[in-house]
Amino acid sequence: MEDFNVNVFKAFADDWALVTAGVRGDYNTMTIGWGGLGTLWGRPAATVYVKKNRYTHEFMEKNDWFTVSFFPAAYKKALGYLGSHSGRDEDKVAAAGLTPVYPDQAVTFREASVTLLCRKIYAHDFDVSAVPADVAEDYYQAEPPHTIYIGEVVNIQKIE
Ligand SMILES: Cc1cc2nc3c(=O)[nH]c(=O)nc-3n(C[C@H](O)[C@H](O)[C@H](O)COP(=O)(O)O)c2cc1C
Repeated sequence: MEDFNVNVFKAFADDWALVTAGVRGDYNTMTIGWGGLGTLWGRPAATVYVKKNRYTHEFMEKNDWFTVSFFPAAYKKALGYLGSHSGRDEDKVAAAGLTPVYPDQAVTFREASVTLLCRKIYAHDFDVSAVPADVAEDYYQAEPPHTIYIGEVVNIQKIE
């Protein structure tokens, strides 16, 4: 963890990441542009927000582990693909040209530069009545809320 040196603001908003949940043969992944890294309950923690109508949401619900992976700039097109197609409809990982790998009880990708292995420690939907009015109007008028997932970061895998 001492070696982890990512600009969190840029990493999610500008460069994007993948959140992946499930196990070999039964997983799904999607691109995220929102997320947080920090400390919660005395543990290193990663927070992601997965809208309830994503296929990935089903996997986040039924699994205790997920990964958050960051990629070199060369894979931005692949991340764009994974963020605009659903695993419900196709093998989008193959279409995006990524190679799944299976560390511990989770799934990440050989092409990732850094992967955070997270044990799910909290999950709850946004209370739309408690978010700012402009956010509710922009994001939740016609769409379901995001679920907030917080994972304890138990391992960071860095591939040079
Ligand atoms: C750059 C980018 C960032 C995204 N960030 C998020 C996010 O933080 N949370 C979310 O629920 N969806 C986000 N999405 C949308 C999902 O990645 C997209 O709906 C995806 O196709 C869902 O795939 P699935 O149905 O296989 O889960 C983002 C999409 C893109 C392109």
